[in-house]
Amino acid sequence: MTVADLNRILEDMPRYWGERDMRWGHLFPLVHEFGATCLVADSPDGIRGYLMGWVNPDRVGYVHFIATREDARGTGLGRRLHAEFARLAAQLGATRLKAITSVANTGSVAFHTGIGFAAEVVDDYAGPGEPRVVFTRAV
Ligand SMILES: CC(C)(COP(=O)(O)OP(=O)(O)OC[C@H]1O[C@@H](n2cnc3c(N)ncnc32)[C@H](O)[C@@H]1OP(=O)(O)O)[C@@H](O)C(=O)NCCC(=O)NCCS
Repeated sequence: MTVADLNRILEDMPRYWGERDMRWGHLFPLVHEFGATCLVADSPDGIRGYLMGWVNPDRVGYVHFIATREDARGTGLGRRLHAEFARLAAQLGATRLKAITSVANTGSVAFHTGIGFAAEVVDDYAGPGEPRVVFTRAV
C-alpha cells in the first residue's frame, strides 16, 4: 500500500465500511512505516479490497483492518488478502496472527472463524466498557 492508495481508499470509504466512519484508524504513518505489509487488491476497476497489518516484536502478525469492497464480497478476496499477509508475516518471523473486531460485527466474526481464527470476547479491551472480539491463529 502506498500513500496514494490510502487516499483512494479514504475517498471511497463507504464502499468498504458502509455507514461506519473508520477514518480514525486509516493513519498515514501506518502506511509510511508498514506499507510493505499493508496490501491492496488493485484492478482496472479500482481497489477491490485491502489489508493493513504489521509484525510486532512478539512475532505476531497483527491485522489492523481488512475490508473488501461491497461488490467484491463473497468471492474469496478477503481470504486471499489474509493468506498473502500470513505469507509475508511468516517471512518476517511471525508465528501467530491476531486481529480485533467489535462485538456487533457479526460478519467479521463469521469471516475470521471461517478462515481458521479462534475468537474470544475480551472485556475492556479498548478501554472501560469497550469489549472487543480478539481473534488468534497460528500463521
Ligand atoms: C469481513 C470481510 C473482509 C470479508 O471479506 P470477503 O472478501 O467477503 O470474504 P471471503 O469471500 O474471502 O470469505 C472467506 C470466508 O468467510 C466467510 N464469510 C465472509 N463474510 C461472511 C459473512 N458476512 N457471513 C458469513 N460468512 C462470511 C465466507 O463464507 C468464506 O467462507 P468459505 O470460503 O468457506 O465460503 C468483508 O465482509 C468486509 O469488508 N466487511 C466490512 C469491513 C469489516 O467489517 N472488516 C472486518 C473488521 S477489521
